[in-house]
Amino acid sequence: MIAIADKTEILIEALPYIQQYEQKTFVIKYGGAAMVDEELKETFAQDVTLLKKIGVRMVIVHGGGKDITDLAVKLGLPTRFVQGQRYTDEAMMEVVQMVLGGKTNQDIVARINQHDGGAVGLNGVDNGMFLVRKHTEGGADLGLVGDIVRVNTTFLELLFTHDVMPVIAPIGVDTEGRVHNINADIAAGCLAAALQAEKLVYLSDVPGVMVNNELLHSLDRSRAAALVDAGTVTSGMVPKIRSAFGALDAGVNKVHIIDGRVKHSMLLEIFTKEGVGTEVVH
Ligand SMILES: Nc1ncnc2c1ncn2[C@@H]1O[C@H](COP(=O)(O)OP(=O)(O)OP(=O)(O)O)[C@@H](O)[C@H]1O
Ligand SMILES: [Mg+2]
Repeated sequence: MIAIADKTEILIEALPYIQQYEQKTFVIKYGGAAMVDEELKETFAQDVTLLKKIGVRMVIVHGGGKDITDLAVKLGLPTRFVQGQRYTDEAMMEVVQMVLGGKTNQDIVARINQHDGGAVGLNGVDNGMFLVRKHTEGGADLGLVGDIVRVNTTFLELLFTHDVMPVIAPIGVDTEGRVHNINADIAAGCLAAALQAEKLVYLSDVPGVMVNNELLHSLDRSRAAALVDAGTVTSGMVPKIRSAFGALDAGVNKVHIIDGRVKHSMLLEIFTKEGVGTEVVH
């Protein structure tokens, strides 16, 4: 048990942060184990609600690759991979819409609202939030996968003035009205940039960026480039790092990659001097 004096000290340590972050915007990329484990889902919902209640403008962008794969398997849809990445054909895009923009999104919203978090589920199609162009980088044709070319934050601003927390599925639409799947890390980075967020936090299933089994507390651009070149940073960590630097360039103040498997890691990152995970720095 924590003694009363220690409890009050912990609460008071949070005060300057509460003052600093009131009315600021935090974009949280929600993914990995924190979206699967029952207890972690619950603590996540508590954390984002607490932050919103102290006056932070909270925005959640979620992944859901596992849910998509699960339903595709149930429906007997084959998953095609091109250079290790999922190919999104029209049938798969329907699953993406049903799952990401449907059940996955609503499950997160329902859980947050159990705690009175005032969450509303959206996706990038709503009010043309994410305008996309077919993804072409790297040469591989991934089908209906989009790169964000413009973010429209008008509707989100409206929600903030009504104290609503948007929970956003990474789906966008092109100029022809075709819906596309978007990498959730990249969507979170673009949204943080467009909102000029104070913080962008990636919740993942690792302690942060690891090198030789050790956590990097801070990572700058040249080190990141070297780690990617050397093959030390690969797969799902690459879009996080790329979009992290993109967000910093666009004026986002701080970017953190933290361990979503640790209960309340988000609160530790935000309310303590020490912080956790990897901070991506200029
Ligand atoms: N140097 C590295 N340090 C840490 N993780 C790394 C590194 N290189 C590659 N990775 C991989 O990146 C993964 C994190 O990205 P991943 O896309 O799998 O999860 P996520 O984005 O949190 O979840 P989701 O994609 O389901 O939303 C880690 O599980 C790890 O396998
Ligand atoms: Mg990922």
